[in-house]
Amino acid sequence: MAKILVLHGPNLNLLGAREPDIYGRTTLAEIDARLLARAHDCGHVLESFQSNAEHALVERVQATMGDGTDYLLLNPAAFTHTSVALRDAIAASGLPFTEIHLSNPHAREPFRHKSYFSDLARAVICGCGADSYSFGLEQAIRFLADSGKTSRSRVPLSTTN
Ligand code: DQA
Repeated sequence: MAKILVLHGPNLNLLGAREPDIYGRTTLAEIDARLLARAHDCGHVLESFQSNAEHALVERVQATMGDGTDYLLLNPAAFTHTSVALRDAIAASGLPFTEIHLSNPHAREPFRHKSYFSDLARAVICGCGADSYSFGLEQAIRFLADSGKTSRSRVPLSTTN
């Protein structure tokens, strides 16, 4: 069993209503429910945390240093392009993580092309809408299994959508 943390940055609480042409119509609650169900089916514990405040995200990352978190799925949202503080917290934690984006920032405005996280990330998944999170979780589950964090009841990929 492993412990997976999903961190969502600013404005992702508005998913479903926020610029649906870019971010889709799936709400954050729906994304979190899908991830929780899938992680649970695979015998893992998953917690989601969203904040619009940089300091709250930094503090949640710092807390992973004592709470047994094994893996981080991170959508820093706008902080992707601005936050040295969040980058430093993640570097300090030493957590393996996947950077997630619903949209493809590289196909958008130039200020979105810079990420303060990609060079530290194990993987970057973007442009797949809400599926970016699901693909990130599948990859994290494989990584954790390869790392010896075996799941109790591995569910075949073909049973999910
Ligand atoms: C985002 C992309 C960011 O550029 C943007 O600021 C977001 C969401 C995404 O998931 O596509 O808030 O991280």
